[in-house]
Amino acid sequence: MSSNLNPYAYLQNEIIPLKSAYLHVSDLAIQRGYGVFDFFKIQNSTPLFLQDYLTRFYSSALMMGLEVPLSEREITEVILELIQRNEMPESGMKMILTGGYSANGYDPAEPNLIITQHSLPMPTEQQVNNGIKIITAEYIRELARAKTINYSMGIRLIQQVKSKGADDVLYHQNGVVTEFPRSNFFIVKQDNTVATPAQEVLMGITRKNVLELAAKRYNVEEAEVTLQDIANAKEAFMTSTTKRVLSIVEIDGRPIGNGKVGEVSKTLLQDLIEFEERQIEE
Ligand SMILES: Cc1ncc(COP(=O)(O)O)c(C=O)c1O
Repeated sequence: MSSNLNPYAYLQNEIIPLKSAYLHVSDLAIQRGYGVFDFFKIQNSTPLFLQDYLTRFYSSALMMGLEVPLSEREITEVILELIQRNEMPESGMKMILTGGYSANGYDPAEPNLIITQHSLPMPTEQQVNNGIKIITAEYIRELARAKTINYSMGIRLIQQVKSKGADDVLYHQNGVVTEFPRSNFFIVKQDNTVATPAQEVLMGITRKNVLELAAKRYNVEEAEVTLQDIANAKEAFMTSTTKRVLSIVEIDGRPIGNGKVGEVSKTLLQDLIEFEERQIEE
């Protein structure tokens, strides 16, 4: 993982040192938590699957009635310049679009676009090798298809997750599972069918890649997944940009399958790592 103590960031048409990148308190992100963002990985100084992340970012902005002030070509130029200047070949990049400096603290104004580069928080070796434990909570994300900056529920639940000795919390409504605060969810059924919820979830870029890779080896289903399906499952895992494919071995104190990291999860993690490497070579 690379780090740079004095990285550059993009804010309001300028590339400036991150330490002087400030927004005014009148911004709707501060006043009302209004904005969208996206986050992608940089490996070997290459932004991975950038087009997919840009498409989702512009689509989230549209859903929230916010206009991105740069075209996709212009934003790509800024991203490439930051990568070159910051010299963080293994890192993450965040694009944030806020509601802008609102005159009355409520009406949207001209959106502010911020792009920052960070070191990448990857799962620990222990989490990858032994899998993680999760709890569940009743909740459904508002406007689930958009990647908004509202993570209030996930952040409120951090204490509960920790107090139960777990690593994350899976959202469901009346037993129908959706996603984690920051990841998508998959199960592997007894016949090796790989299934993931289709409704009320963010269309994760890793979810899309894993579905494509899984379809080459197994049956795949984008369908309703219930808590009962998890109880009957052979394996379960989460996917996200930073976590890739991370196995889940326990839910609400009960083991999933045999309580160990499963073969399908391991295979798909390896497939994804190789897929990322092929992207870099291209
Ligand atoms: C709500 C939600 N679901 C799923 C994901 C995973 O998406 P991706 O694979 O594009 O990182 C994220 C990522 O942050 C998220 O915020």
